[in-house]
Amino acid sequence: MSEVVISVRDNGPLMVKGGAIVEDGEGKRWEVKETTFLCRCGQSAKKPFCDATHRGCGWESAPRVE
Ligand code: FES
Repeated sequence: MSEVVISVRDNGPLMVKGGAIVEDGEGKRWEVKETTFLCRCGQSAKKPFCDATHRGCGWESAPRVE
């Protein structure tokens, strides 16, 4: 079984590595075969995916697992 890793990028998206399914609120699904980035800042025009808008909007977040 392959491992799925979700990395919280400082001041950026969630990086999803490994085989996973992203499902929206209507049940529409996208298969993640390698790596994808999910928006955390809420500003992406391609939600739920990151389009790098976070880099220019001044949004900051760098949470750590306690
Ligand atoms: S985290 Fe990249 S556009 Fe939102």
